Amino acid sequence: MKKKIVVFTGAGVSAESGIKTFRDSGGLWEEYDVRDVATPEAWAKNPGLVLRFYNERRNQVIDAKPNAAHHAIASLQKKFDVHVVTQNIDDLHERAGSKNVLHLHGEILKARSSVDPALIYPMKNREIKIGDKCEKGSQLRPHIVWFGEAVPNYELGINICHEAELLIIIGTSLNVYPAAGIVHYAKPEVRKFLIDPQDIPHGSIENLTSIKEKAGTGMQQLAERILSGEIVL
Ligand code: APR
Repeated sequence: MKKKIVVFTGAGVSAESGIKTFRDSGGLWEEYDVRDVATPEAWAKNPGLVLRFYNERRNQVIDAKPNAAHHAIASLQKKFDVHVVTQNIDDLHERAGSKNVLHLHGEILKARSSVDPALIYPMKNREIKIGDKCEKGSQLRPHIVWFGEAVPNYELGINICHEAELLIIIGTSLNVYPAAGIVHYAKPEVRKFLIDPQDIPHGSIENLTSIKEKAGTGMQQLAERILSGEIVL
């Protein structure tokens, strides 16, 4: 049986594809107040602004391409059972060929009903507009987990991480809970790598090696070491 590698990713893995991170300088949360665009309260108060914000995000994702990091992660599937657990709402892991991708914070290319969370629709257009409705007649919203909302895939993420035989964390400030807490469910004896150009305070993750590189270079080098057998699981 193939050994299981879990890759936990954040905005930094898509940075080299031209998608802005949230908390770096020049990041999205410098430009926007989270409370105006990414909360249920914002949606109640100004749905037009919320839709505009996510329409812009969607357009950027559609025009972006997977980068070397997404491809290197997918290349590990040649020899390993690879599971990507991502906080990202883009589809760049999927487009690079990763087969098992769990989205913790939703998917920008899907819309969902604002009255029935089970009604989720792949989007045909680039934009959701005021007046676009679900089959029950309610306004469509982006299929995104907003601040203050539950993370439906959280338990699944924990289980996947707990079964990891190697864990790679890439491009996340590990600031946003509960998602960031998932990495703590990996077994202590399992080897872990963290790729990020910044020093990331990670609490007390055991057996962790930091690789202070951008995702593209860092992940390409790490994938080579894993596939060549230099790093043994
Ligand atoms: N390669 C790797 N990492 C990078 C790169 C790069 N080229 N550029 C930036 N980074 C790193 C930053 O150093 C930082 O640690 O990516 C991280 C981005 O952190 P955040 O902006 O906080 O993004 P993330 O951790 O994914 O945010 C979590 O917050 O607002 C929400 O829902 C949103 O899912 C998101 C969550």
